[in-house]
Amino acid sequence: MRLLAVETSCDETALALVECSEDLENPRFKVLRSVVASQIPLHRRFGGVVPSLAKREHLKNLPIIFRKIGGESLRDKTDAVVVTVGPGLEPALWTGIEFAKSLAKRWKKPLIGASHLQGHLYSFLLEPQENLEDVFPSAALVVSGGHTILLLLQSLVKYKKLGETRDDAAGEAFDKAARLLRLPYPGGPEIEKAAKKGNPKAVAFPRPMIHDKNYDFSFSGLKTSLLYYLKQSFKADWKEFNKNYGQNKIKLENLNDVAASFEQALVDSLVYKTVKAAKEFKVKSIGVSGGVAANSLLRNSLRKESKKLDIAFLSASKRWNTDNAAMIAVAGYINFLNRKRLKIEAQPNLGL
Ligand code: KG4
Ligand code: ZN
Repeated sequence: MRLLAVETSCDETALALVECSEDLENPRFKVLRSVVASQIPLHRRFGGVVPSLAKREHLKNLPIIFRKIGGESLRDKTDAVVVTVGPGLEPALWTGIEFAKSLAKRWKKPLIGASHLQGHLYSFLLEPQENLEDVFPSAALVVSGGHTILLLLQSLVKYKKLGETRDDAAGEAFDKAARLLRLPYPGGPEIEKAAKKGNPKAVAFPRPMIHDKNYDFSFSGLKTSLLYYLKQSFKADWKEFNKNYGQNKIKLENLNDVAASFEQALVDSLVYKTVKAAKEFKVKSIGVSGGVAANSLLRNSLRKESKKLDIAFLSASKRWNTDNAAMIAVAGYINFLNRKRLKIEAQPNLGL
């Protein structure tokens, strides 16, 4: 069946048409069309996502990208409409839901609700797949701007949460660190770019909770260490540096080294706990998804660790890790196969 998916949970407006086939044991997906309209340049001025602006942009972008993806001509090619119902920014979620509702009504097609987090979790299915028999149980890390969750998957639909962040999400930590370093929003790609030119051993940042017995994470202490490090580096000039936000009058001389050390500390914490879970539960694969999974150091480290353990590594290409609607079609199809119905209303705190 062909699903048309709508995603507006945060700062990307996205639509996709995906051909979905086969069953829960081995679902198959082929992305026929996918369009993502990013609002990043708009929110950049404010150093983060402004919900009311996000809503306005989604309202403006939805009809534009609907036309771009094929518009009314897709009616005969679509079997059902899927929409993200949560988690996310409430006003942003409603724009997608209202759009999808009216489309489904006009086209007389069923409407399926999907979870944004399940979209991330299942995004690896958008890549050509081996047989799924060989990947479960799996240790799956979902790392985005709002979430950091480690799961143990027994199958696509049977999983339990092993741990999650106690404070900031990994992406949020990157974004906040970038703000401190006077780098633009979103911080993850900017820190990664600077880090490529730096020495990850230059500054000894902490790896919070790494020795705790649980599978939880914590990143706010890491961010505070960065703040102390900057205050210490600038000393008398700190006030001036702070005042000149965005004007770059005073620069951090070892910016690349600081970025590389911060990135390494954050990635080490994520990798350490994921590998610990992989060993304890004797998994057959490690998975990583969500915006932060676009980070090369994280992907390469987890890929290397999977190889060492002689297990599979599951992750979609970067384009399917950051927000998109193809992954929402996947989550919708799995809900359909699993007969799981989500209420078609904005659920800002919907969990996994
Ligand atoms: O999944 P996503 O696109 O949106 C949410 O569901 O939150 O994730 C966005 C987050 C942002 O915090 C962004 O800084 C981070 O993913 N991110 C990265 C990279 N690309 C995006 N973090 C580290 N390295 C990257 N290359
Ligand atoms: Zn996301």
